[in-house]
Amino acid sequence: MKKIFDRNAPYQPESFTFRDPEKVGEILARYPKGRERSAIMPLLDLAQRQVAEDGAESNPPYGGWVPAAAMDEIARIVNEPPISVLEVASFYSMYHFAPTGKYLIQVCTTTPCWLRGSDDIVGCCKDRLGIGMGETTADGLFSLIEVECLGACVNAPMAQVNDDYYEDLTRESMGALIDDLAEGRPVRPGSQAGRKCSMAIEGPTTLLKKAREKGVA
Ligand code: FES
Repeated sequence: MKKIFDRNAPYQPESFTFRDPEKVGEILARYPKGRERSAIMPLLDLAQRQVAEDGAESNPPYGGWVPAAAMDEIARIVNEPPISVLEVASFYSMYHFAPTGKYLIQVCTTTPCWLRGSDDIVGCCKDRLGIGMGETTADGLFSLIEVECLGACVNAPMAQVNDDYYEDLTRESMGALIDDLAEGRPVRPGSQAGRKCSMAIEGPTTLLKKAREKGVA
């Protein structure tokens, strides 16, 4: 669950400017004249990524989020009232209203992931990081939140860290992932069990092959 929007929170900057006006222009140009509001989502994403870039250089570091001033700036650019931008940003889980850790761990706990052991993944994150859901580590490196289905149920249980999915997780592989991120070591998104995409774990197969193995075809 993401943090609620608080315009008066002490972490809100007084102003926000896009530092790549060309990119803003390129996003606006994707949509017909008079439909500038269609650019709200990609502009929110651009703002959040700009904040994340700044955060990666900061000490302590922080991750991407969308300040109130950025939403006001987007409203000005697309010529809509600020509430229209907030309505969009609050609907989607990928926009954040408060500073997050440099690595935002989003653990899926919906039924398929839960049946496949998401409780273990959540427990591992809490134990390893010493934080609860919705909290950030004191060094600014990690935030932990629980999310609904991220559409990778076939390789459950899974978690998203920033832009990447980590699938077929176990308590051990989740712990190793956290350690690698903390130490700045390279990490490999996707299945942590060696599965290729969403292929059966034992390799390519077909229903016919399975039926023959069972002696029913
Ligand atoms: S239930 Fe976890 S990705 Fe769908």
